[in-house]
Amino acid sequence: MLMRGGPLPEHIGVIMDGNGRWAQSRGLSRAEGHRQGASNLRQIIEECVMLRIPNLSTFAFSTENWLRPQEEVDALMLLMAEFAVSEAEEMAKRDVRVVPIGDLGRLPERTRREIKNLRDRTREGRVMTLMIAVNYGGRDDILQAAQEISREVARGDLDPEEIDHERFRAHLHTQSQPDPDLIIRTGGEWRLSNFLLYQAAYAEFYSTEALWPEFDAHELHRALREFQRRERRYGGLHDRGADAPDGGGGQA
Ligand code: FPP
Repeated sequence: MLMRGGPLPEHIGVIMDGNGRWAQSRGLSRAEGHRQGASNLRQIIEECVMLRIPNLSTFAFSTENWLRPQEEVDALMLLMAEFAVSEAEEMAKRDVRVVPIGDLGRLPERTRREIKNLRDRTREGRVMTLMIAVNYGGRDDILQAAQEISREVARGDLDPEEIDHERFRAHLHTQSQPDPDLIIRTGGEWRLSNFLLYQAAYAEFYSTEALWPEFDAHELHRALREFQRRERRYGGLHDRGADAPDGGGGQA
């Protein structure tokens, strides 16, 4: 059970790892694992909507994933296009706004078109913002923000002294979205793998052995319970009590 009245994250980031292992252990193709992963994503979105989590971001395809065998890349691109088509109506009905983040320019034309269509059709969604990271890398995100700002400086529109975090983050793909306060990684690894590097500065990290296709609502609740427990001990300064490790006066 979640702690009643306990804090819930404003923004959950999810690194959906383990599709390949899930499939291989069942004698299925890796593509089949990703298909199951996409289906699981639908359920987790639904659960987050039910829990009134206002922001969810998921790492669907990283800038490094192009290094996978072409067959697997093709399968993922097809799956994302199909997901975008099949979810457009459902997301709009659930009042979910879908925001793709990453460089869509390198995607196959159909995948790019369907993802943009999903974004446009759900633009008015107010219940939850779902960010899907496609061809996304945290380092690239920071780099492109730095380039955009440099152009403003070069044009004479901006004084370097005026570059603060607020201005900088407005140039990141995530723009005005709040930073993730919980990052969940399935598949047993403890790495950020270039996901939301700048934005994750203060995120609580949760890693589970569960492979992504097995990460169900029950597993999500486990992660949230752990978040609530940590938040109670180490949360922001305003709710830190005398039981915090340093008496509540230190850095969050
Ligand atoms: C990592 O598992 C997962 C990915 C590289 C892709 C994640 C994609 C999905 C969950 C489905 C498609 C997404 C959408 C939005 C439709 P892995 O292949 O690295 O697993 P392994 O570590 O067991 O090999």
